[in-house]
Amino acid sequence: MIVCHCMNISEDEIRRAVDWMRASDPDTIVTPGKVYRALGKKADCGGCLPLFMNTLESHPGTGVPAELCDLQGRRAGRGSE
Ligand code: FES
Repeated sequence: MIVCHCMNISEDEIRRAVDWMRASDPDTIVTPGKVYRALGKKADCGGCLPLFMNTLESHPGTGVPAELCDLQGRRAGRGSE
């Protein structure tokens, strides 16, 4: 299914870009902008952003790595290390 009609980006391309980004850097924070850059494209109208975000959120590789969660709490001594 095409997610971004301006740049002709499919759901599958987004998922493969996330997989590539995660394999290249396991600690990366996945954002739509990074996915566009990974695909060598740039958003135009932005009308696809809600569907783009839904596609990202449905991919298990998009989540924030556990070791990067609650950094503020850990810095304040509230979290576990
Ligand atoms: S539909 Fe994606 S930028 Fe326009």
